[in-house]
Amino acid sequence: MKALLIGGGGREHALALSIIKSGAELITISPNKNPGLARVSKKFYIFQDHDTDFIRGVATRYKPDCIFIGPETPLASGVSDVLISDGFRVFAPSSKAAKLETSKAFLRILMKEKGIEGGVDSASFTDLDKARKYVDAIDYDFVIKPDGLTGGKGVMVQGTHFNSREEGIAVIGKYLGSNYSKILIERKVEGEEFSLQALVFNDTIHFFPIVQDYKRAYEGDSGPNTGGMGSISFSTRGLPFIPPSHITAAQTILRKIVLALAEDGINYTGPIYGQFMSTSEGPKVIEINARMGDPEGINVLSLLNDSIMDVAISIFNRGSVKLSFRDSVSILRYLVPIGYGQDPNPSKILVNEELLISRGLRFFYASVNSRGKYLIQTKSRSLAILSEDNNLEGALAKFRGLEDAIRGDYYMRKDIGNADSITRKRTFMQRLVGLF
Ligand code: GLY
Repeated sequence: MKALLIGGGGREHALALSIIKSGAELITISPNKNPGLARVSKKFYIFQDHDTDFIRGVATRYKPDCIFIGPETPLASGVSDVLISDGFRVFAPSSKAAKLETSKAFLRILMKEKGIEGGVDSASFTDLDKARKYVDAIDYDFVIKPDGLTGGKGVMVQGTHFNSREEGIAVIGKYLGSNYSKILIERKVEGEEFSLQALVFNDTIHFFPIVQDYKRAYEGDSGPNTGGMGSISFSTRGLPFIPPSHITAAQTILRKIVLALAEDGINYTGPIYGQFMSTSEGPKVIEINARMGDPEGINVLSLLNDSIMDVAISIFNRGSVKLSFRDSVSILRYLVPIGYGQDPNPSKILVNEELLISRGLRFFYASVNSRGKYLIQTKSRSLAILSEDNNLEGALAKFRGLEDAIRGDYYMRKDIGNADSITRKRTFMQRLVGLF
């Protein structure tokens, strides 16, 4: 079997390692010289991951049994549409189905029209004056979201990114005056976030265990939002601070969203992920993404016993699929350039892979380029380090002394998965929703 993989980050490195577990030959198209991907690929092309003509040419030459698309930009720019129309088995949604991610307004309208629970008060605007009137009329704190792809960095939350309503209006004005023609204003909801990922084929959906992404740049969940600084999963045990009933409710919501699309003639194929806020009123949809999360996808793909290639082929063949996972705690921490999230200052780093392996850690190369024995950072995330153990203490212990294995200038949050942060989150949630 052959698989074609598009994308060049940590999530794609995890996808690649899972794909090759099936024995399939891997052909990769990555925008950067990712050493992890290069090493496991039979053919490795460095090319833009949204260049439809180039990708179509590679697919036509190798005739892969399955195509995986990691990031969202190739979906938005029609790469999946072209490959699907050429008759390839593409384990990723069409651009129409991916509108769940590429247009947050589309998602909110769909949920409202079909009466799907888990929504929040939301309105979209293309006009600053109308947005201002709306803000003047609401009596709650709000969140501003551009109606387009933002790489996880465009959402502005009252009390975190801006304080007064006037500051909020200024943010809206800035967005509408630049790349975005539409923004959403949504009620701010309180709680703990979790990511629920799943694999979909038309009306069937298979769920991964939930994960929490640590979005903020600095320790103590401070600083600007980022693509994700790390993530934790307790496999099928859920997360200690999310009520189990909220996971089931979120699964129902995600299933209903996929079925609602199908009802409108849009069949969804491939990974999907809902970012939910667990609140006093149950789970609320923050956003839906038409792909696996990065880093969240790395946690669950690493815990998955089967190869994602075998799973995808089974799904396409309508075979029986039951995702099974190691019952472990997995903690992931991303190494990033200094200043990441604000004003990144890329540098070069040296990774001692043998030392990481000897400590029982796994690693996934992200948006880096290899040059000789060095990794040349870009402005984005560089290397995900994953620790797995059957308990939290064991998983945390493996990170101790990590500095010896990685030389150079970089930043990594050291509080991701810490017992203190987990206890704090559990106490907060029990106060919010009662004991569980
Ligand atoms: N971790 C956030 C994302 O993948 O969008």
